[in-house]
Amino acid sequence: MARLDVVETFHGLFFPGHLHTQDSLQLALKFPFQDTDIIIVSYPKSGTTWMQEIVTLISSRGDPHVSRSVPNWARAPWLEHHYFAALLEASPTTPRVITTHLPHHLLGPTLQGSKAKVIYVSRNPKDVVVSFYHFHKIAKFLPEAGSFSEFLNRFLKGTLHYGCWFDHIEGWTRQKATMNNLLHISYEEMSMDIQGAIKRVSSYLQIPLMEDEVNNCVKHCSFSSMKDNKMANYTLVTEEIMDHKKGFFMRKGKIGDWKNMFTEELNQYFNSVLESKMVDSTLEFTWDE
Ligand code: A3P
Repeated sequence: MARLDVVETFHGLFFPGHLHTQDSLQLALKFPFQDTDIIIVSYPKSGTTWMQEIVTLISSRGDPHVSRSVPNWARAPWLEHHYFAALLEASPTTPRVITTHLPHHLLGPTLQGSKAKVIYVSRNPKDVVVSFYHFHKIAKFLPEAGSFSEFLNRFLKGTLHYGCWFDHIEGWTRQKATMNNLLHISYEEMSMDIQGAIKRVSSYLQIPLMEDEVNNCVKHCSFSSMKDNKMANYTLVTEEIMDHKKGFFMRKGKIGDWKNMFTEELNQYFNSVLESKMVDSTLEFTWDE
């Protein structure tokens, strides 16, 4: 395993070199999507892995065989990773399921005119930054997390892996007005009504499910079920890449954990930046259960 110390810079964003190369990033922007493709798009730590599980389960009508036998990165490969093409070729999922964290200003032009079905998953940004902070502690391919207040500043300035959260969510959700093939769903919606969320996704994907199939999806994509599933919980990733002694990828899975990390002062600062950056936005967030 090499290149953990190599950083690729691409369109002003930085990428860990063991996963991305200039070639893989260039290829992602030219990828010939098919109209039948399903594309899961999110900013990191917004519920991507959860949606990968949901889409896999919906595609197999609630049968957990694929989600329990194939790692999530092989059944819903990452568009921008250097092993994408090989994994996509071998992927057992039909239709093809592709995952990406790329912002809309990079991927939008490639998708223009495509009928591929985009599912954009968002999460309230306070829980995103807390989840990302803990993830930096286990992910050896990311820079040191530092103190939480320093980390929060990097998040607000948009200097973390995959750049600015504000640009990401605004860039993708703005497309909803013009794109029929974009479903925006939030982590909080999934958390508060998973049955409803699964039905919404299955109806959008035009894979109608019977009630017992929905119930099986609900059962197998629960936090406890996924935490137990080594094909979804990232424990298959080697210690060189993730330090599993420092924490779990499937960490808490809650709405409102930000309250355990934000001081009153940080909260006020965060709120003021959020307000100024999203002055034209109609998006609303759920901050607790
Ligand atoms: P926490 O760190 O807050 O626990 P991503 O897949 O985009 O990297 O997001 C990871 C976050 O989603 C983690 O959040 C993880 O625990 C949470 N998550 C994954 N599967 C989940 C599930 N089935 N239910 C609730 N949260 C889930």
